[in-house]
Amino acid sequence: MKSSADARPIPVVLLGGAGYVSGELLRLLCLHPRFRVVGIGSDGHAGQRVVDAFHHLSGIGLDQLRFEPFEGLGRHFEKDLHLGLFAATPHGATASLLDTLLLRAERAGARPHVVDLSADGRFTDPEAFAAVYGLPHGAPHRCASFTCAVPEHYRGVPPAFAAQPGCFTTAAVLPLFPLFAMNLCEEGVFICAVTGSSGSGRTPTAKTHHPERHANLSAYSPLAHRHEPEMARLLAAARPDCAPSVEFVPHSGPFVRGIHSTIRATLREPSPASRIVAVLNEFYAASAFVEASSEPPALHEVVGTNRCRIGVAVRGRTIVMTSVIDNLVKGAAGGAIQWMNRLFALDDDTGLRLPGLGFC
Ligand SMILES: NC(=O)c1ccc[n+]([C@@H]2O[C@H](COP(=O)([O-])OP(=O)(O)OC[C@H]3O[C@@H](n4cnc5c(N)ncnc54)[C@H](OP(=O)(O)O)[C@@H]3O)[C@@H](O)[C@H]2O)c1
Repeated sequence: MKSSADARPIPVVLLGGAGYVSGELLRLLCLHPRFRVVGIGSDGHAGQRVVDAFHHLSGIGLDQLRFEPFEGLGRHFEKDLHLGLFAATPHGATASLLDTLLLRAERAGARPHVVDLSADGRFTDPEAFAAVYGLPHGAPHRCASFTCAVPEHYRGVPPAFAAQPGCFTTAAVLPLFPLFAMNLCEEGVFICAVTGSSGSGRTPTAKTHHPERHANLSAYSPLAHRHEPEMARLLAAARPDCAPSVEFVPHSGPFVRGIHSTIRATLREPSPASRIVAVLNEFYAASAFVEASSEPPALHEVVGTNRCRIGVAVRGRTIVMTSVIDNLVKGAAGGAIQWMNRLFALDDDTGLRLPGLGFC
């Protein structure tokens, strides 16, 4: 364990109100041995008890916690000079909220650790954000402070803040990054991924309404989804001079939690699947969460956990990898807590050794 003998609780503040990721952060942080939620921002639910928005979280220590207006959250940074801040608010809104809080923290002499789960922290170049999301970035001067990666692909501690790459991207880059890092596959890859309905957040829309979504399956934004360039950018970090070309087709699936990805690539040399499985498991030997085998994994193996399971099949030079994660855990709240653990010099897996639900 890297953590020091100082086992005092570490205060953390959440932006994200009554959203799904915010709820999942609360569920996981309840079990965390060091982090304690001291504040949660929501203008929409300000003053209301958190457990009234998340009935499944009552009776586990959160019953007194109330949503606070964003403006009021600044007081926490004056009280605790070294706290954690998770941002689980929508892209486009998050950067300016974080900037306001960070300015207040800086004036108080505080140095919070920040993990952004929205897309606002994923771009070091604000123009690149604007090109992909069609909006000006809310705090362009902060972009360079964020390191965006899955924690398994970044050695050490980010110099300032961390950004969680998002659920589809996490499920896609975990299998592919080691192959790119070792130059084992060609640069063009095709990714087909199916997400559960919780990936769309809490506000219902015509496309996410239960009668539309239940027992149904459809693709959306084929070859035009904004996560496509985000995947390519993260894969490009695997090796100097690497220029991945990603074709991505997301699907809406008839389940609530999880992402199942099918990834096709071309190996540079024919190789037995067992060798690729060994390469992946060696690459992730230090990770508590990523595991490969020659068996295709199923969503139920990972739902409720911070794990990613990868299946590998090879014929000649064609490789097909399937990967499964829980979008709300490894793809969001769990991955973000993994980053926050690292920023506070705790082991990555602190509070994240979660048993799966198995049947859900
Ligand atoms: N869902 C996933 O699987 C997933 C995975 C990875 C990353 N993410 C990212 O995580 C973030 C949260 O996702 P989510 O699924 O939890 O979304 P969500 O369920 O829609 O929740 C977002 C919450 O943010 C608050 N909010 C909405 N608009 C706001 C604004 N303009 N300013 C401040 N707060 C605002 C609302 O809280 P109140 O109702 O309390 O006001 C809302 O419930 C997003 O950036 C998303 O892209 C989501």
